[in-house]
Amino acid sequence: MKELRTQVVIIGAGPAGLLLGQLLLREGVENIVLERRSREYVEKRTRAGVIEFGTANLIEEAGAGERMRREGLVHHGVEFRLERTSHRIALSELADGKPITVYGQQEVVRDLIALRLDAGAPLFFDTEVKVLEGLKSDAPYVEADSAGGPIRIACDYVAGCDGSFGVANRSIPSSLRRQFERTFPFSWLGILAEAAPTTEELIYCRHESGFALYSMRSPTLSRLYLGVRPEDTLDEWSDERIWDELNLRLATDEMPEVTQGPIIERGITAMRSIVIEPMRYGRLFLAGDAAHIVPPTGAKGMNLALADVRVLSRSLVEKLRSNNDALLDAYSDTCLERVWRAEEFSNYMTQMLHPNYEDDFENGIQMARLRQAVTSREASTVLARNYVDLNSL
Ligand code: FAD
Ligand code: PHB
Repeated sequence: MKELRTQVVIIGAGPAGLLLGQLLLREGVENIVLERRSREYVEKRTRAGVIEFGTANLIEEAGAGERMRREGLVHHGVEFRLERTSHRIALSELADGKPITVYGQQEVVRDLIALRLDAGAPLFFDTEVKVLEGLKSDAPYVEADSAGGPIRIACDYVAGCDGSFGVANRSIPSSLRRQFERTFPFSWLGILAEAAPTTEELIYCRHESGFALYSMRSPTLSRLYLGVRPEDTLDEWSDERIWDELNLRLATDEMPEVTQGPIIERGITAMRSIVIEPMRYGRLFLAGDAAHIVPPTGAKGMNLALADVRVLSRSLVEKLRSNNDALLDAYSDTCLERVWRAEEFSNYMTQMLHPNYEDDFENGIQMARLRQAVTSREASTVLARNYVDLNSL
């Protein structure tokens, strides 16, 4: 078995693992990133698109913001649609002038990978971590399988940035770990289409047939979502049915149809909320989806993941440089306060925008909430602040 040693082993080359690696490198902390998928796979995986104001600044501070600032779409507002009527929420005006940036998660991932490889820092693709050991000792290590054979890496700390189905969160003994969760009775069907966006800003839409979201990636690429039944499969959704349903739900008198184009990607994602407490076990620290999942309606998942690693990088640097444990000891509590705030906001957005096919009382409540969100300045201010910069609040 090949044997290596580093200060911090980072499991997972998603946004959390890669940004943590970058922040630590900038502070002179050695680290190795291990990713079970190929480079091509992680660079192509289409997911999040909305970057909060503070997250964009963090990416820039890490030295990875050059292309995001150049190509990212800066949005100062967002639309909510109900009953064929559009209501604009003036995000920047309501949230201290702050905008959001629309820039694909896989672009952030691509930029961070390029930066890391240019710096010659170790990043092993096709390498799956199987074992975490010695987490309660001062000599933890991980074992991984790679194309070149098994590897064992001794380290001071392990960062579990390996998503909710990874190996890190399962390494916390079940007697010490609490998992809180909620599964919503709908999923999202997402498409990426070669079509010029019909709209300049994102549109969140509640229609009696279901939820719809209009987003984009560039002046020529649209990203759209439909709320569907959890048992639905892609075979049941032909291109024609997808466009018909988007047109039905999103139509207003001013925008009766969305611009169509070839669908180049499609997928169905279940909607769930998960929080794992605590986010630490000995020398293992969880960050990002490994510790929590939010339904995507609030656009918070990647932002939360990156905010975790900002806290974690500072805490590790403080310990490794000054032998001060205070920040590491507070890591889990510091993050969880923000995580629950994001869970609350994501839950609020999800429940307000997805009609309930069985419960008309619930539908009445949702409509009341949504009308308040778009007509009351106080309610839209709270929404705007949470949407634009929850992770810095
Ligand atoms: P991941 O991106 O999941 O990365 C974890 C990595 O670990 C993966 O590459 C995985 O292959 C690797 N891994 C797993 N197990 C192992 C192992 N044993 N060994 C080695 N490697 C391993 N968030 C937003 O902020 N805004 C949005 O607009 C938004 N929209 C979304 C839309 C959709 C349809 C979906 C599905 C998600 C959306 N999200 C959004 C959520 C966001 O994509 C996630 O929260 C984000 O990917 C979390 O990053 P992460 O680095 O924690 O985990
Ligand atoms: C996206 O552009 O993919 C996106 C935007 C907003 C969301 C979720 C996803 O709430």
